[in-house]
Amino acid sequence: MAQQTLLKGRVLSFTGSPFEGEPTEAVKISGAVLVEDDRISAVGDAESLRANNPEANVVDHGQNVIMAGFVDAHVHYPQTAMIASWGKRLIDWLNTYTFPEEMKFGDPAYAGEIANRYLDLTAAHGTTTMCSFCTIHPESVDAFFTAAQKRNQRVVAGKTCMDRNAPEGLRDTAQTGYDQSQALLENWHGVDRLSYAITPRFSPTSTPEQLEAMGALWADYPHCLMQTHLSEQTDEIAWVRELFPEARDYLDTYEKFGLLGSNGLYGHVIHLEARERDCLREVDAALIHCPTSNTFIGSGLFDMAGLMRDGHRVGLATDTGGGSSFSMLRTMAAAYEIGQLRGAPLHAAQLLWLSTVGSARTLRMDDCIGNVAPGMEADLIVLDLASTPAIAQREACAENLWEAIFPTIMMGDDRAIAEIWIAGQRVSN
Ligand code: GUN
Ligand code: ZN
Repeated sequence: MAQQTLLKGRVLSFTGSPFEGEPTEAVKISGAVLVEDDRISAVGDAESLRANNPEANVVDHGQNVIMAGFVDAHVHYPQTAMIASWGKRLIDWLNTYTFPEEMKFGDPAYAGEIANRYLDLTAAHGTTTMCSFCTIHPESVDAFFTAAQKRNQRVVAGKTCMDRNAPEGLRDTAQTGYDQSQALLENWHGVDRLSYAITPRFSPTSTPEQLEAMGALWADYPHCLMQTHLSEQTDEIAWVRELFPEARDYLDTYEKFGLLGSNGLYGHVIHLEARERDCLREVDAALIHCPTSNTFIGSGLFDMAGLMRDGHRVGLATDTGGGSSFSMLRTMAAAYEIGQLRGAPLHAAQLLWLSTVGSARTLRMDDCIGNVAPGMEADLIVLDLASTPAIAQREACAENLWEAIFPTIMMGDDRAIAEIWIAGQRVSN
């Protein structure tokens, strides 16, 4: 007999895209969601669901919002301990703070400690799925997948390959990058809820030979995701031009080695040229917006409105620890602020969609996570819309649901996450 739980509250589901037409029309609010084992089996009216399922354990969340857990489409779990490091731009930030920290992940005990710390912190913030870079050490990948598997969490991760412009101890080679990635992929991809992503860090830290090897690996496993960085900072783009003088642009350094494709995830993508935008759209690649990182490292303002209008597949991400927060609420707030700076503020429904359905689409997982609908995996969060005195006093005079939700998006943190469910099990927070 299936274990049934009926969660009552304001259940928020998306029935379409809030970027097409009136944003609120893409959202449906229901009275309850029925969870059976690890899946959502029904969404609808609380009374009838109760009557039809008399055995279900009922949890009443009153006016709280029940929605899909957040999906963070680009993170670096090994950067957990050095988040919020001061005063550097991208390349100096990598050399000063990031690489010394990543050096520690050859130690399985340290990697395991940080993987568990990261998953504790992000669960407390309502994130149930993420797509993570690891380090060059296979141990860092094993540690992350082991920790996620224990929690029955749907995650994507991969060994970050680098064979130049990184310190001794943090470089592999074209061949070992290929071999270790392949072995990890064979070990972990498709096991329980785990997926492997082929992960060249970015063009400056890979030789053409390594990019070619990564492209060959992806050609051998085209169903896998491939994640990397693209066009984050102007200094970085100038460096790429020096390193690859023959390339037409930054994207070309991936394209010519077979690293442009529909299962590709490209982080940041701020300073794209017209050709790059067209090619990414043509292959239906995924673009990942990392707003707290882009302001923190001083990278620039992502063109959400233009890219959405052109039909790109866009997801939202913290980019921990270039990003300055583990919270997707804080990340939505930053996306809103960047929209304002570009003259195109995002609606609350669009922000919530980006952090759930949108990100799940970039991971090609929107058939199983990112929404509250029958058949979806039961990764759910309960949002308290009055989690602090400051938020509560604003929410108290809201005239509709969207006005009530927006203060939590702008000012909320882990205190707004009243409950978290992963694969149908409540997680303590
Ligand atoms: N580009 C290459 N590596 C990184 C990284 O770790 N963080 C960010 N923000 N950009 C990168
Ligand atoms: Zn990144």
